Amino acid sequence: MRHFCPVYPKPRPSKASALLMFFSARRSWLDALYERSYRMRMGEVHLPGLDLYMVNEPALVKQVMDTQAEDFPKSNLLGDALKPLLGESIFTTSGDQWRKQRSMMDPAFAQARLNVAFPVMQAAVADMLTRLSALPDGAEYDLEVEMTHVTADIIFRTIFSVPMEGADAKRIFTEFARFQAIAPRLMLPSIYGLRWLVWPWDVWRSRRAAAAIRGLLGQLIRPRFDAHRAGKPSDSADILQSFLDAKDEVTGEGFSFEELLDQVAMLFLAGHETSASALTWAAYLMANAPDIQERMHQEVVMHLADRQPELSDMRYLDLVRNVFRETLRLFPPVGFMARQSASACPMRKKTVEQGATVVVSPWLIQRHRELWDAPDVFNPDRYDNDASRESLKQAYLPFGMGPRVCMGAAFALQEATLILASLVRDYRISALPEHEPQPVGRLTIRSANGVRLKLHRRRKGV
Ligand code: HEM
Repeated sequence: MRHFCPVYPKPRPSKASALLMFFSARRSWLDALYERSYRMRMGEVHLPGLDLYMVNEPALVKQVMDTQAEDFPKSNLLGDALKPLLGESIFTTSGDQWRKQRSMMDPAFAQARLNVAFPVMQAAVADMLTRLSALPDGAEYDLEVEMTHVTADIIFRTIFSVPMEGADAKRIFTEFARFQAIAPRLMLPSIYGLRWLVWPWDVWRSRRAAAAIRGLLGQLIRPRFDAHRAGKPSDSADILQSFLDAKDEVTGEGFSFEELLDQVAMLFLAGHETSASALTWAAYLMANAPDIQERMHQEVVMHLADRQPELSDMRYLDLVRNVFRETLRLFPPVGFMARQSASACPMRKKTVEQGATVVVSPWLIQRHRELWDAPDVFNPDRYDNDASRESLKQAYLPFGMGPRVCMGAAFALQEATLILASLVRDYRISALPEHEPQPVGRLTIRSANGVRLKLHRRRKGV
């Protein structure tokens, strides 16, 4: 069987000069990669303001991310650009501060809470289907727009128990989109130690968007925070309630208002930007692999017929889940994770200096020529075959690994299975021959020119 090979930026034949690398990476960091990046076990880049090591070898990845995670705290490369919005949120902190935050936030993502979140996800997906039903049959549509909307709506509802409607909620959504568009322009010069290249206009716009978002989120959090502090009982079972109830094991103190705001802003960003990216690429892959899409449709109608998917259906939708897994391999939303070496450390035959940046890239590792068979090919059936088991075990990390593994992984899988199952049940998605998306590495892996596809409504029972 011939498999579809999705588009990806053709790596340059050899390593570029530092200057060329910087200008290529300005558009997308994927453009700075070269052929050997996909084969090497470890690479390095040295620039005046930067010592960077790229680690692909599974044993080293485990060392950095898991067994010696303490020695490789988060790098502040991304933190600088994200700080005005996320403050001291769990995404950027390290050490004791991170440990305290993680133990206070983990309960919000326990299985019991996920069960509570499922009806919330169903309601947001029903609204998505209503929005799509307003499009003419066979309409050409940029799926990224809808995937961003539905995932933002889901995380909004699971945090606050209200749908993302009304002027303020919509403003949060638009200001987030503005912030996300500017963030990569602030990050790159900081990565290259060229902060003076950042446009003050971009800094101002990013800060303004961040302040607007924090102001609006603050208005939603404040009444519940004050009521909680005043000891008023609440019957909410949302994420905000879990954060309000959380206590530091050592001091017995809860989150302050400012800390709460940091975590909620971070969760809104981490909770929809990543899922929206992956779901958009999943739709693109399905559109270009019609036989697989048809099998997904059969799987879904066999279990659901015409009804809405329920939580108990999720475990039977193996192919839907494997399509999403394979999407996360080919287009991991978090394309790289950056750490900082706390002390000088030997790796392979090199010494990673204290303070050097160590990058682990799911994008490279999951397309690595020596770690995967047919690495660039879309084949969701690979997960049913024994040969891939080893690759999966050592070279698959779309949610990161070790103590800082994604807190929302189970949430994201549940949400994605529900959205994809609902889409393939009601629609056939087809590709537009004249439109080829252009993957670019920004906050997540997105398409520079959108992902335009056609949506054909399925008649019941077809
Ligand atoms: C397909 C969707 C998602 C992907 C691929 C993804 C990926 C990741 C990755 C790779 C990390 C680790 C980053 C690092 O180690 O530097 C991470 C962390 C995190 N993610 Fe996700 N994520 C997704 C969805 C979500 C959702 C839906 C939520 C919340 C509802 C979430 C919340 C978080 C949080 C709070 C962290 C920080 C954990 C910590 O540092 O202790 N993520 N995510």
